[in-house]
Amino acid sequence: MIYLRSVAPLAGLLMLASCVQTDINPKLRKVLADSRPGARVGFVGDIGPILRDSCLPCHNAERAMAGVDFSSSEAMMAFSPEGPLIVPGEPVRSRLFQVIVLRDDAPDAMPPTGHALNSGEVTLLRDWIRQGADWPDGKEGQLKPIPGSEPRSM
Ligand code: HEC
Repeated sequence: MIYLRSVAPLAGLLMLASCVQTDINPKLRKVLADSRPGARVGFVGDIGPILRDSCLPCHNAERAMAGVDFSSSEAMMAFSPEGPLIVPGEPVRSRLFQVIVLRDDAPDAMPPTGHALNSGEVTLLRDWIRQGADWPDGKEGQLKPIPGSEPRSM
């Protein structure tokens, strides 16, 4: 895991990295090992819909579980309790990415219920973060949960 080794200077992150390593979803190992830059990924067409469908139900402006809100670029600047949500250029240091490559039964895996992201979606998020995690300001970058998609009890 070349990526994970790059966080070695920080002891806390190193611990996290080794835990993440053992909990990696085996189906996603290829996605993690592939260091090609990938085709250009767009926020509006590619990333927004993935976040809106899979993450916004529990992480929006009104309901931000664990304080995590994926509804705008400003909200995304925040930290998860475990570290920065996005480190542009470095998916493996970005909490947003770390939690989607875990095995389904790992305690921190996201989403916690419902279906996990498929490898195509994980690849898009990986390439988007690698390419700088460009998130437009203003209306284009505002995400809203699909009405009725919020979990009733959580
Ligand atoms: C069904 C509700 C639900 C969905 C959908 C969901 N989450 Fe979460 N998320 C939670 C809850 C509850 C917590 C706090 C408890 C925990 O950490 O497990 C949380 C915590 C988090 C955290 C902070 C804790 C940590 O481990 O860093 C991150 C980051 C996160 N989610 C990312 C995501 C991403 C990315 C998606 C979409 C792929 C997503 N979540 C989808 C419910 C959800």
